[in-house]
Amino acid sequence: PLNEPFDLVLFGASGDLSTRKLFPALFSLHLDGRLPSEWRLVALYRREHVDFIENLRIPIMLNHNTNDESMKAKWDTFATHIVSFSFDATAPENYGELKTFVNQMPDTSTIFYLATPSVLYGKICTGLANAQLNTENSRIVLEKPIGSDLTSAKDINELVSQHFKEQQIFRIDHYLGKETVQNLLVLRFANTIFESQWSQKYIDNIQITISETLGVEERAEFYDQVGALRDMGQNHLLQLLCIVAMEPPSRFTADAVRDEKVKVLRALRTLNDLDVHKKVVRGQYKTGVSNGSAVKGYVNEAGVDPASETETYVAMKVEIDNWRWAGVPFYLRTGKRLAHRACEIVVNFKEVPHSIFDLQHKKTMANKLVFRLQPDEGIRLILCEKKTGPGVNVRSTELSLSPDYLHRKRVPDAYERLLGDVISNNQTLFVRQDELIAAWEWLDPILKHWNESEQGPEPYISGSWGPAASTLMLAKDGRLWDETF
Ligand code: BG6
Repeated sequence: PLNEPFDLVLFGASGDLSTRKLFPALFSLHLDGRLPSEWRLVALYRREHVDFIENLRIPIMLNHNTNDESMKAKWDTFATHIVSFSFDATAPENYGELKTFVNQMPDTSTIFYLATPSVLYGKICTGLANAQLNTENSRIVLEKPIGSDLTSAKDINELVSQHFKEQQIFRIDHYLGKETVQNLLVLRFANTIFESQWSQKYIDNIQITISETLGVEERAEFYDQVGALRDMGQNHLLQLLCIVAMEPPSRFTADAVRDEKVKVLRALRTLNDLDVHKKVVRGQYKTGVSNGSAVKGYVNEAGVDPASETETYVAMKVEIDNWRWAGVPFYLRTGKRLAHRACEIVVNFKEVPHSIFDLQHKKTMANKLVFRLQPDEGIRLILCEKKTGPGVNVRSTELSLSPDYLHRKRVPDAYERLLGDVISNNQTLFVRQDELIAAWEWLDPILKHWNESEQGPEPYISGSWGPAASTLMLAKDGRLWDETF
């Protein structure tokens, strides 16, 4: 259990993220008995809500048995911890009033969770500081994307850090809260057999895919300004890359881990205009079929500018200039309205230097280590074995680590884990300021090139695996994207 009493002040409480992720995560922590007896959620929302709590209960309860009396009772207790009101975060005079809702007892920590667009972060922090709410006992959680390019990210960082120390700032990237990502850390650094193979000596290439079948849904207002590179590339994809590529930290503490991650980001090979052209593919979905139904193209979605050139897909070839990774490409891709929902990290090992078996099987010879983050998380090691029977025929087989859900243990959602870490004041799975800036520094040339380019994103059919140029990018290196399934 998390022992310390806390007040969680949530900005953007009626937004998509709060409804879909934050409240359900908090409710799960409550059901698991992990919250302290004294906690409060101060939910601040922008739009008028007739009955906030009731509007909250309905979607959360969809995942639970509402006929179960004890579940109802648990919800009722949960709801007693929530106060909510309409709040304009841009009006400085409102912050004084907010103070009356926040318990400022010395043993209670106050967590300000900013689930709003990052352009508001500076204003909110100034408002909190003017009302003297940024006490030693306070923490602030910032959702991604922080900024829209290097300059704006630096500006936001500066404004926030005028009022909060780095140890109080939790930049959340929920992919770091996924079970398999933490398991990847354990697998790498609690075993010798993987780490000894973990370099250009034995690895041919690494692929990271985050594919979604969903389209832009109700988030056009946000997404059309942002696009796939800022929404997923700047944070989730690069963070996964760091976890795979980092050197072993000397201990499992927030700064030791983040020191190693930032070194990876700083070692990423900078892209010039020509490189962007060759190593980055952007796409936008057109009409097609997704999960068996006909779906609209991106520019026909409600709220999207019909002339929008926002990318809904991005694929990148990333190189890391250090001894461990010289010559090993990392292929990263993410997109909406793709063929399947999947998130996988595939480590492709080199083929054997010389095969003594029938060459027709050569393709099956290369080992793979597959980290599947979702759905059905798990880890598989693809190996070769002899096919039972006459002769010596080689076939591919796998060792798989069976995840807890197969043993009927619930796998906690990433937000549950990370909210728990904020409450218990553990920054290990949060992004430090220098990481954020290093990631934007690497992305900035891509954004600049796209801005100046006359060529828009390449079209792809909804339900496909993205634009042809992405397949071509790997084909030029004599490789294919790994099949995810
Ligand atoms: C969010 C993005 O960070 O991650 C969304 O803003 C995306 O566009 C979501 O859909 C995907 O998260 P998950 O955990 O469902 O893979």
